[in-house]
Amino acid sequence: MPTTNDLPHCTYRDGNLHIDKVGAEELAERFGTPLYVYSATGIRANFTRLSGAFMALKPTLCYALKACGNVSVCRLLAGLGAGMDVVSGGELERAWLSSVDMSKVVFAGVGKTRAEIAAALSGAHSPLKGIVKDVSGRGPEGRGAVGLFNIESEGELRRIAQIAADLRVEASACIRVNPDVDAHTHKYTTTGKSENKFGIAIARAKEVIEAARAHAYLKVRGVHVHLGSPIASPKPYMEAIGVVLAMMDELNAKGAGLDTLNIGGGYGIDYGLATPATPEEFAAGIVPLLAGRVASGLRVFMEPGRCIVGNTGVLLTRVQYVKIGDKKRFVVCDAGMHTLIRPALYQAHHFVWPARTQSPPTRLAPPENAAGLVGTDVVGPVCESSDFLCQDRPLPVVEEGAVLAVFCAGAYGMSMASTYNDHPKPAEVLVDGKQVTLIRPRQELHELVTSELAAVGVA
Ligand SMILES: Cc1ncc(COP(=O)(O)O)c(C=O)c1O
Repeated sequence: MPTTNDLPHCTYRDGNLHIDKVGAEELAERFGTPLYVYSATGIRANFTRLSGAFMALKPTLCYALKACGNVSVCRLLAGLGAGMDVVSGGELERAWLSSVDMSKVVFAGVGKTRAEIAAALSGAHSPLKGIVKDVSGRGPEGRGAVGLFNIESEGELRRIAQIAADLRVEASACIRVNPDVDAHTHKYTTTGKSENKFGIAIARAKEVIEAARAHAYLKVRGVHVHLGSPIASPKPYMEAIGVVLAMMDELNAKGAGLDTLNIGGGYGIDYGLATPATPEEFAAGIVPLLAGRVASGLRVFMEPGRCIVGNTGVLLTRVQYVKIGDKKRFVVCDAGMHTLIRPALYQAHHFVWPARTQSPPTRLAPPENAAGLVGTDVVGPVCESSDFLCQDRPLPVVEEGAVLAVFCAGAYGMSMASTYNDHPKPAEVLVDGKQVTLIRPRQELHELVTSELAAVGVA
């Protein structure tokens, strides 16, 4: 009898985990571990569901590619009509390589350098010029300017205005406002409180927007607000949108001509502990606040990342050792904090379960009647005590060589992976039905060391 957990694209069949129609153990065998596996079916379904929920706002859905920046994943989303939200010059180049129309790219981030701003205004300044071409064989030169900068500070505004004037290219922008609204998420992922480094305080933002009119090549079109991530309820969005709409109305009454609102991202997903609002529930709170204004010409941008890719990705890892300590039972795997840092960094919860099991989970939790579960820490090989994927979790007894699946690892997994302790980065695979594509090969160890050898005299 097939048993499923609550992710339609990650299903246990006859005790074996399948991603779309492909067995997890087969993938682990073929590509090695640790391995990130994404479901194209899941990505399409999530994007379509979110766009459907917010359809009344006709938003430009800019996928926050920091969640999972693999070019194949971004290309899949660009093909569905997504724009991209980028936060660095590197991500900007990924967006371009995804064949997204640059007018649908928003450039956020508090530390934009001069070089990054120039590349965002003109591909002639791309660091990839002369080195990389896109799938149509074109270099970055003619790609045009990004649709919007999200300006995070007055210094950045002056810098963008200056570079735009020097290049004689018009820069369009939203001012990122810090509305001082608590998103009730982890303190490290809260961005819309006054103590956070992001955005400009609302009172000051009004003056900044009015003063910006003096810049010939910088057009401030509206306001951006992003509160943090993951957010479980539409309420903080509703509060923040109320605050920024009041501000836009006040400024527009004085002729500011603001016609754009970027409401950020941050929509939570079900990791198996608590159930956040669904896309439809988020939309039910947010859409009524904006639909009338959209009918009168307001342009809405959104920047979701996690809710598009988060639950579509599984990290597969192989058990190296089972170690019975004095106080704990450790399952030592080849993935750890270097592969998926969220548990170590944010105490994030990821459901972990064997890829082959007599007791398939029915939700992102052990099945109710499971027998023989043992309290376990699933840990990695890194020399840090924070190197764990989960702690004190009831797990079936597993042996050396077993493959474990870490669920909901599609967002902020591979994109935050490091090579700490000189572990090369894992491979990434995209599954679409029965089709399997290696979208990034496993990093080779020589890639970690060769750039240092010239300094010690090795040719
Ligand atoms: C400015 C901005 N927009 C969008 C996002 C995407 O958040 P999420 O992936 O939770 O939707 C982030 C995440 O940190 C962000 O900083």
